[in-house]
Amino acid sequence: MTTYRIGVIGLGQRIAHVLAAMQEVGWNLDLVGHVDPAPVGQPILEAAGVPMGRAFASPAELMKAGPFDLLMLGAPNHLHFEHLAFALDQGVPIFAEKPIVRTEAETEALARRLADKAAPPVYVGLVMRSLPIVREVLRRIDGGELGEVVSVDATEHLPPEHGGYLARNWRRKQEWGGSYFLDKVVHDFDIFSRIAGARAERVASFGGRRIFVPERSDRPRQWEDGSAAYALRDAGWAGANDAFESDMDVTDHQVAMVEYANQVRLSFHANSHTALTERRWYVAGTDGTLIADLVRNKLMVRRALFRGKPEKIDYGNVTADAHNGADQAMALDLLAALEGRAAFPVTPYESMEAGLTVMAIDRALETRQVVECAPMWDRYDAAKAGRQLEPAR
Ligand SMILES: NC(=O)c1ccc[n+]([C@@H]2O[C@H](COP(=O)([O-])OP(=O)(O)OC[C@H]3O[C@@H](n4cnc5c(N)ncnc54)[C@H](O)[C@@H]3O)[C@@H](O)[C@H]2O)c1
Repeated sequence: MTTYRIGVIGLGQRIAHVLAAMQEVGWNLDLVGHVDPAPVGQPILEAAGVPMGRAFASPAELMKAGPFDLLMLGAPNHLHFEHLAFALDQGVPIFAEKPIVRTEAETEALARRLADKAAPPVYVGLVMRSLPIVREVLRRIDGGELGEVVSVDATEHLPPEHGGYLARNWRRKQEWGGSYFLDKVVHDFDIFSRIAGARAERVASFGGRRIFVPERSDRPRQWEDGSAAYALRDAGWAGANDAFESDMDVTDHQVAMVEYANQVRLSFHANSHTALTERRWYVAGTDGTLIADLVRNKLMVRRALFRGKPEKIDYGNVTADAHNGADQAMALDLLAALEGRAAFPVTPYESMEAGLTVMAIDRALETRQVVECAPMWDRYDAAKAGRQLEPAR
């Protein structure tokens, strides 16, 4: 079996978890080296028994230790474009974490780069695409079981510790993370476009910060058993000490509405400090309805004109990290793609389109206007075709 020589740029928690999952599902991997000023993923790799390889000062230094079979990119979001632009020029297959890039201008530049010169394959870590329950949702919808999709209602509600971590980690700042939605739910908006079968045509959004604010910093900081609250793991690169007293400038709760080009309508509600966690997609079609409960890993489906019990599928495999085996499934998909046995479940273009949809939602939030997406798609399509329109914001 091939041993994959791997180089990493940005060895944080995420890439460490993905490498651990790759090893767990049977990859032969040789982590040759990494570029990272202070690799947050080190303890995760140590626990998984994956040797870290050598530390290099820059991506160019790392490349001198080649040849590589895979470059993995997992730095904070503001560095994605720079690292991708570098990696694309190396001609080595790339695994890049989501969101693929952070701004509309970066998206267009990347689309133009992909159109411009030969590029190695780019596999983006939109990990929900690999989950069996998500594959089944798409299979049922593609198979016409729900008839035409009419409307979708979806949520992502996080437990307080997760929200508190987001408020202390680099994700709290737009300049590093982009936004709450871009970092946390670009996964969901990728799947929603796929469910709708169209691009977002217009979007609206409201949200703000009402939870992790200094005015609430004197609230109780203990769980019922006396353990410290809002203390989940070290906040890592550019971390802040306190979830309530940080310089956070992204939302901690937000709602959005989307009308897709084919008249599918969607509403979405996210909150980063809830006592009843939920990640749920309710998809209503002309001939049937489904509910995908992504926290409990359960799917429920029923035909519209059927009074019997709904079909229920329990995928089990519920894990504490809320990924429910997705990392292992993605590790297998990545190996299959590299070995040419199957296409990876998501393309860089779908990844860019999911990012743009969320960026339009954030623009609607910021401007308090309904945003018409057509000009954004025109610029993106022009970039994809290698043409230049007026620059994006
Ligand atoms: N697909 C998923 O489900 C999922 C889950 C979590 C995170 N992510 C994504 O993974 C990426 C990393 O997130 P994380 O949770 O691992 O963050 P993290 O803070 O744990 O890791 C980020 C790492 O990048 C390093 N870094 C900072 N500047 C760097 C530079 N100039 N060059 C190289 N490395 C640098 C930091 O030192 C740190 O080790 C983000 O893009 C995030 O959105 C994806």
